[in-house]
Formats: sequence, structure tokens, C-alpha cells
Amino acid sequence: MSEDLKREAAAMALTEVREGMRLGLGTGSTARHFVDLLGQRVAQGLNVICVPTSEATAAQAISLGITLSDLETLDRLDLTVDGADEIDADLNLIKGGGGALLREKIVAAASDVMIVIADDSKCVDPLGKFPLPIEVNRFGLGATTRAVVEVIKAHGAEGGLKLRGEDKGEAFVTDGGHFILDAFFGRISQPEALSNDLLNIPGVVQHGLFLNMCSKAYVATPNGVKTLQRK
Ligand code: A5P
Repeated sequence: MSEDLKREAAAMALTEVREGMRLGLGTGSTARHFVDLLGQRVAQGLNVICVPTSEATAAQAISLGITLSDLETLDRLDLTVDGADEIDADLNLIKGGGGALLREKIVAAASDVMIVIADDSKCVDPLGKFPLPIEVNRFGLGATTRAVVEVIKAHGAEGGLKLRGEDKGEAFVTDGGHFILDAFFGRISQPEALSNDLLNIPGVVQHGLFLNMCSKAYVATPNGVKTLQRK
């Protein structure tokens, strides 16, 4: 059921794709449906050029015959379509559950438009039930972790911080070679201030708060796909 909803949202985003567009391709199980549907259109003759946000998405796109490029060759993208872990009423997001947040943010920032696709379980108010992924450099992990703990405490985190993968005996490593700390907030009441405070820590590479980046969301519900626009 949930896979059907994700695919319905992906199909709506596909209606925004035009011949010749430069596209950013997101990462995760919902974005995967979009790439799959895009591959079908490409097989029928659609010409687009795409920048993937992860090695996993790149591999999927290549297997479908989608032409890939990068942000050295292309200076801007027309549209990025990606999933999200949480979406609030202003279309601010938490992303990075799949660990691709850094490339996702670089690609979204290089795009004229970012559209998010999701099922309605992702809509929340406020953000923060989903643990906030914070991508950190491996060097100085202890110092960075202590600094992040101070910041999340100051922002009222209800839970602690976990190095992703540690409980499975091996830390998760991103496509960029970094670690991820997952921060358990419960609710994030001042996302802008939290973003600034995290980015002020030298070892923090990026975090999963995507603020004022998404302009539209297609949210699939059992009663059809809702279109949400940023006010
Ligand atoms: C990948 O790093 C994430 O940002 C995904 O976009 C996000 O986790 C949504 O993934 P799903 O579509 O699998 O829920």
C-alpha cells in the first residue's frame, strides 16, 4: 500500500518533467519510484540530463539508460525531485534517513525548483520526531560529538545522539566518506537557529534540515495525491 502511494506521488512529479530538462534525482525508496518512471519515459524517447544524489541512484539511473552528468558540467538544474523523512506545513524538511543528505542538499541548492514526493505519513507539525541526521567529518569525531550534544541540548532535544550504525557494530559511512550522528529531538521549535548553530561546529559537514528549499510537495494519501505549495 505504502509503495503504491509513493509511486502515485512519483507519477505526479513526472508530469512536471519536460523535454530537455536538467534534473536532480533524489535518493530513497520514494525517489526510486520517480527514477523508475523517468526511465520508462526515457526509453520512449524523452531527452533529459540528470545529476544523481547518491551512488545508489546513479546505479539505478544507469541501469535504466538515463543520461547522467554532474555539477561541474552543468551550472544549474531546472528541477530536483526527491523524497523526505518529514515535511512541515511550510515545506521545511528533514532528510537524510538514507544517508544522502549532503549530495541531496548540494543538488537541491543548484536547482531552480525542488519538488518533494512522499506518502502522507511524512507530514508532521513541527519537525523533529524523525531523528535529525547530522553528517560529520571522521576527524575529531569525539570533539564534534561533544559540541553537537551541547547544541542539541540547548535546542531542547528530548533524546540523545547516536552514531549511525554503531549499534550494528560498524559505523555507517556516507558516499562522501563521512559519519552520521542522528539527533533525537522530539520537536524542533527553532529550525533556523538550530541549523546555524550546527553549521558553526567545524566538524559538522551538513545536516538534514532543508529550510526554504522545497517549493512544492506531492503527498499521496489513500484518497489521492495532495499538492502542497510553499506560501
Ligand atoms: C536519503 O538520504 C533521504 O533524504 C531520503 O530522501 C529520505 O530518507 C526519504 O526516503 P524514503 O523515500 O525511503 O522514505
